Amino acid sequence: MTQPFKNTIGIIGGGQLGKMLIESALPWNVSFNILEQSQDCPSFRYASTFIEGSLMDSSKIMELAEISDVITYEIEHVNVETLKALEAKGKTVIPAANILEIIQNKGTQKSFYKDNELNTSKFEIVDSSDAEQVDLTKYSSEKIVVKSCTGGYDGKGVAILAKSDVMNGKVSDVFKGQVVVEEYIEDAKELSVIVCRSRSGEIKTFPIVEMEFDPKINLVDYLFAPSSIEAETAEIATELAKNSIDKLNGVGIFAVELFLTKSGECLINEIAPRPHNSGHHTIEACYTSQYEQLIRIMLDLPLGDTSLISPAVMTNILGANDVTGDYNLEGLADLAKTKGAYLHWYNKTVTKPGRKMGHFTVLDESLDSAIATSKFLREKLKTVKP
Ligand SMILES: Nc1ncnc2c1ncn2[C@@H]1O[C@H](COP(=O)(O)OP(=O)(O)OP(=O)(O)O)[C@@H](O)[C@H]1O
Ligand SMILES: [Mg+2]
Repeated sequence: MTQPFKNTIGIIGGGQLGKMLIESALPWNVSFNILEQSQDCPSFRYASTFIEGSLMDSSKIMELAEISDVITYEIEHVNVETLKALEAKGKTVIPAANILEIIQNKGTQKSFYKDNELNTSKFEIVDSSDAEQVDLTKYSSEKIVVKSCTGGYDGKGVAILAKSDVMNGKVSDVFKGQVVVEEYIEDAKELSVIVCRSRSGEIKTFPIVEMEFDPKINLVDYLFAPSSIEAETAEIATELAKNSIDKLNGVGIFAVELFLTKSGECLINEIAPRPHNSGHHTIEACYTSQYEQLIRIMLDLPLGDTSLISPAVMTNILGANDVTGDYNLEGLADLAKTKGAYLHWYNKTVTKPGRKMGHFTVLDESLDSAIATSKFLREKLKTVKP
């Protein structure tokens, strides 16, 4: 008997992105091996083989590769040197190690955009202790964005400072080592385009989406699909996103985060070489999800259709500010009663303020009614003390 899906996929990282990646391939009966620090992670229960260890541990990554036909990662903080060594031995890593290497460092990533004439905000790369010497007169806003070149995630490596603070040497209080000092884009609309590129070079994009951020913690509150921006602007942003993946020669799926400035200019903020928060809604709202698309690429199948079936709003459920550790989820009955509402819960055993605990997507005939329902449910769904 021949079996269609006999290739096993190895995922470095066992977080919620890995969990949703696996869920998308369950109907096809694809098998997965996972490497993660601890069994107490969202995708543990789905693993055929679970390897416990650091994502930086070369021998653990090798062990994962040994039992997997193709390797991917669901987080950027993995040992890129080991991925290169695997490629040298003929193992397929998607996206390729050299791309992750560019993206892992916010400085090399920004320089890549500049060198390839991909529109991005003005910036400089310096050691944090030298940041006060940067000539800030070329930056128009009174605010300055400072990003740690390495180690940031979910907004944690990003600080928005007053120009005067940068000039007074405050940057070294916030970050050590190399930083990107960057123009603050006032009142930017935050957009995202997920670009998919197959091994044979076929390229597709998901419809551009718009995000609303919580300014205090730099995490997405809501995501709207379709975006309200003009068709012409959407096309320019999508072209910029496609072009950047083309220049990277990327195979895989890539979330290209963009800013739309008040004057209508599109700038690349950053690229994530993996499934992304801005594509969660594609699970229910698109013919093919971002996750299934990555599975197709890894199995060398043609890309699926990316169009929207329905307007959708995705809302992150973040850990409440007053609960740390054990928790209960309140408001589940309200969501269960709502037509077109889909919950994804990440199986995290403990909560902390601002932690991504789950998300829900609401589909409706109009975006406005999906927004109203999402706002209602967001008030109801809360992590509370047990
Ligand atoms: N130049 C900028 N101007 C204005 N706001 C910015 C700028 N750069 C970053 N931000 C704000 O900070 C958020 C996080 O920045 P960025 O995406 O670069 O960091 P991150 O740590 O990789 O975040 P994530 O993992 O959530 O994508 C952005 O989504 C945006 O809201
Ligand atoms: Mg980002």
